[in-house]
Amino acid sequence: EFKQRIFSGVQPSGNLTLGNYLGAIRNWVGLQKNYESIFCVVDLHAITVWQDPEQLRKATREVAAGMIASGVDPKECIIFNQSQVPAHAELAWIFNCVARLGWLNRMTQFKEKAGKNRERASSGLYVYPNLMAADIMIYKATHVPVGEDQKQHLELARDIAQKFNNDYGVDFFPMVEPLILGEAKRVMSLRDGNSKMSKSDPSDNSRINMTDDRDTIAKKIRKAKTDSEPMAETPDGLEGRAEAKNLISIFAALSDRSVADICTEYGGQGFAQFKSDLADLSVSVLGPITEEMKRLCDEKTYIDQVLKEGSEKARKISDPILKDVHKIVGF
Ligand code: ADP
Ligand code: NA
Repeated sequence: EFKQRIFSGVQPSGNLTLGNYLGAIRNWVGLQKNYESIFCVVDLHAITVWQDPEQLRKATREVAAGMIASGVDPKECIIFNQSQVPAHAELAWIFNCVARLGWLNRMTQFKEKAGKNRERASSGLYVYPNLMAADIMIYKATHVPVGEDQKQHLELARDIAQKFNNDYGVDFFPMVEPLILGEAKRVMSLRDGNSKMSKSDPSDNSRINMTDDRDTIAKKIRKAKTDSEPMAETPDGLEGRAEAKNLISIFAALSDRSVADICTEYGGQGFAQFKSDLADLSVSVLGPITEEMKRLCDEKTYIDQVLKEGSEKARKISDPILKDVHKIVGF
């Protein structure tokens, strides 16, 4: 019934953050009515770095609960966890044989996540983008709503799809388009303006977790790094001021207003009033979601049922596509 299909995912590798919410999940809610939507808790991706098994099971349910609490509706879309649909891993293997080492060597996320001790990173972390390409292509998704941090991986997914099509002389995988939406496309850490806010950052003060309570959110925002200049009066005045720009973009996204509008309101002042208002705003948007998320986390049977039904629906779409891939490859 739908012409266009969305796929997107979140790793169950820690607490959901404001970055996951503004960069991804919130946008899915607006898209789910107009696209056939597939949203995945990407547990295979999570284990590219060590995850305690009990913790992984818990985080998988938490991420699903966070999606649903944010308004992603299991009746409107498919919600499941990646490991339950083996076609992801199988297509990823085929893509391991399509993608070139030189392409993977250019991926900045691997460099960031592997850090200085690259020899000790898992080989899964290195081929992570091939699995991500498989996640998308196993459904022939046409659009992928993500944060800006995933742009490079999506370009790689297109390159892989194109090379597969060329190598085998088929017009099989579609050229997927990223959907990078909203005023906070790349939410940065609260500790410095150079790294993105991430659930895998070891410093809890660097991020706002979707499970943080009111006081914790207020404290983290109060302590967030800024500079000593007054607030900018126009978006141009935010150039070279990564920390200020980040907080104002968060404010704009949370209030559905433009960055320019926020600059007009607070320009020329110090950060104190703005930060206090930002804390109130964050609490008012996240508070109800947090509460619903906690309630859902106690309903394990319900969450497990959603994931199970989701994986069955996902398999109905991916099985025939995998069958076609087998024929194309010569299996
Ligand atoms: P994390 O780094 O928090 O583990 P994931 O890899 O699970 O994030 O990403 C899940 C989704 O959230 C992706 O679409 C990603 O682009 C988005 N996302 C993650 N962090 C941010 C951020 N700081 N700003 C905007 N979007 C983000
Ligand atoms: Na990521």
